[in-house]
Parts: sequence; structure tokens; C-alpha cells
Amino acid sequence: MSGEQLRKRLGIEFPIFAFSHCRDVVAAVSRAGGLGVLGAVAYSPEQLEEELSWIDAHVDGKPYGVDTVIPVKYVGKDAGDLSKEALQEHVPEGHKRFIEDLLARYEVPELPANVERTESLLGWSATGGRAHVEVALRHPIALIANALGPPPQDIIETAHDRGILVAALCGTPEHARRQKEAGVDIIISSGYEAGGHTGEIGSMVLIPQIVDAVAPLPVLAGGGIATGRQMAAAMVLGAQGVWCGSVWLTTNESDCVPALVDKLLAASSLDTVRSRCISGKPARQLKTPYTEAWDGSGSPGTLPMPLQWMATADAQQRITRHAQSGRPGSAALLGTPVGQLVGQLTQRRAVKQVVQDMVSECLEALERTSL
Ligand SMILES: Cc1cc2nc3c(=O)[nH]c(=O)nc-3n(C[C@H](O)[C@H](O)[C@H](O)COP(=O)(O)O)c2cc1C
Repeated sequence: MSGEQLRKRLGIEFPIFAFSHCRDVVAAVSRAGGLGVLGAVAYSPEQLEEELSWIDAHVDGKPYGVDTVIPVKYVGKDAGDLSKEALQEHVPEGHKRFIEDLLARYEVPELPANVERTESLLGWSATGGRAHVEVALRHPIALIANALGPPPQDIIETAHDRGILVAALCGTPEHARRQKEAGVDIIISSGYEAGGHTGEIGSMVLIPQIVDAVAPLPVLAGGGIATGRQMAAAMVLGAQGVWCGSVWLTTNESDCVPALVDKLLAASSLDTVRSRCISGKPARQLKTPYTEAWDGSGSPGTLPMPLQWMATADAQQRITRHAQSGRPGSAALLGTPVGQLVGQLTQRRAVKQVVQDMVSECLEALERTSL
């Protein structure tokens, strides 16, 4: 499928695909002519229903998508998924003590009793992912994307029966070939520099390999794309569009707390690290004393998915809440998944401006390109 066919099929003006957990960003990208894709993983099915209903009401009839995470490997998969209580028993006491000691060292207070707790079992499982897909199918979505493996066969078939395209992220050409064999319509290459879960091959090397491996399927280039010049490079390497995540974190519409946006705007491209400390799988994120503690010599080691998040969800909520109220220890520990392009994020912009800047710079760069 050519880039033009893909845009026509999805009903979008520009081949800019935006991954975000924030509904305002998703709706704003789709209204600006790209395709916003809401990350479902952090939401309960009920919350996801609310977010998607909000998007339906604010997207002006433009297309949008949903992203789920149904991993190929995680604890409990072979047993048909374990309950939250059963999984909790796999979190060792030593890990709980390590987290409490770290938070005490940085003087991060407890959460007030009346604050609702963050979900400690995210949708990182077939059960969780399926519940998200079920909710998503009640809405007029144009795309389902899945991370950490191809979605299960029946989900691909159901999506196709309803005219919904299926995309999947991958970090090697071998994974891309497997996604193609599974019936995925759009392959998203996830370069080493990307924010979030990512492999070990940089975009410059990965994009053309994936393009060749899955032709004639369309490829979206993910990882390291925040500007029109980077977009042009991805298109020249053979991609039909770009899949961007980090660039939206500092937009006006982003729901990142201001203390975090300030850290992102100040960070350089050297300030990220690929660590297992969020999910148990390697994910690129802002380097902080929190990531350094988990990756340092005193660490008990991270736990496999989904136990690492179960062990740390409460700590993450405490850090975010108290960073926001100005406590320096909490602010120091505060982080987020983000890619190396964080060094290019130096000012806040509206989502629409980001899209327009990317498109005009991409066209200029392509026009200038010659031998
Ligand atoms: C804050 C953040 C959270 C992410 N969470 C997910 C996720 O839940 N599911 C997913 O498929 N990708 C997730 N990603 C990865 C993005 O989908 C995308 O592949 C990546 O951001 C592209 O690289 P870039 O960060 O250089 O733009 C996340 C990325 C960021 C920055």
C-alpha cells in the first residue's frame, strides 16, 4: 500500500501517527490532520470507555485509533493469566523494602488516605488487552495498534471484519516478518532511540530493513522523529508515515504534570536510559536517581512483567503527587518514558503547531533533497 493509499484508507491528511495516553493530544492530532492513537494500557476498561467517549465528542468526526499491549511473554500467561492477588504474592519482600528505603531517602511522603490508588495491574496481558479491545470496538476507531507482539489472531480477524486496520510495533526485521505472517496491516518500526519499550537497533538501520522485510505492507517509522527533517528522512528510507510518541509530552495539550514538563524541556539527548525499572522489559525513559537506583549495585534487580509495575505503582503515584506539590526529593525521582529526541524539545507548542511544523519542514526538506 502506498503512502497515499494509506492516507486515503484511513481518511487522514498527513501521515503523522501520534501515540499518546492523553485524550486531548489524541483528539488534537486527529483534528490537525494526523491520526491520534490512545494508549489504553494504563486505563481500566471503565476509564477507557470514558476516554474514548470524550474523544468521540471532541474529534470532530476525524479518525483515531487505540493502542493495546498484549505481550508475547509475561508472568502468568501459561496459566491463562493470574489474578492480581496471585501475582502480588510473587513480589518479594526485598523489593518492597528496597522501594520504601529509596522513597525514604528522598523524603517522599505516603499518599493521603482519601486519594484513589493507581491501578497496579496494567493491561499488560491477554485478559487486560482483550478487555481494552472490547471497549475500543464499541467506538468508531480506524486502527488498533499492539505493542510487544502481534495481537492474537481472533482480534486481528474481528478488526478486519469491521474494516479496522491492525498495526503492531516491532524492533527487528524478524519480528516484522512474523507480524506480517500474522495478518497485521501496518508495521511500526520501533528504533533504539524511541521512548517506551524499544529494541536495540537504531531507526536509521532498522527502517529500511523492516521496509524490505514486509513489502508491500506500509511501514510507520517510530523512534527519534520530532521534526519535519526527521520525518523526511524516514520517508526517504521507505516508510509511508511516522509514529511519534515523545514529541507530544511537552505540547500544551499534554497531561504531564508541569514539574515533569520542566524536566523534559531542560533534558538533553544524553539524559535517557533504557531500563527495565518501569515494566520489567527494556523501556527508554528519562534518567533519574530512580532509574539509577534500580540499575545500580544496591538494586535487588527488576521483576518480570507485570510484577515490576505491581511492585512500584504506588511509589510512582507518590513521586508524581509530591513532585507536583514542590517536594524536591520527589521532583528528583520523577520521570517518564521518553526518547532521545527529548534534547530537541525546548519549548511548549500546541499539537496543531507541531503537526504543521513537521509537515512544512518535511516538504521543504524533500524539495531540497538532491545528489
Ligand atoms: C510516555 C510514553 C509512553 C509509551 N507507552 C506506550 C504504550 O503503552 N504502548 C505502545 O505501544 N507504545 C508506547 N510508547 C512508545 C510509542 O508508541 C512510540 O513507539 C515511541 O514513542 C516512538 O518513539 P519517540 O518516543 O522517539 O517518538 C510510549 C512512549 C512514550 C514516550
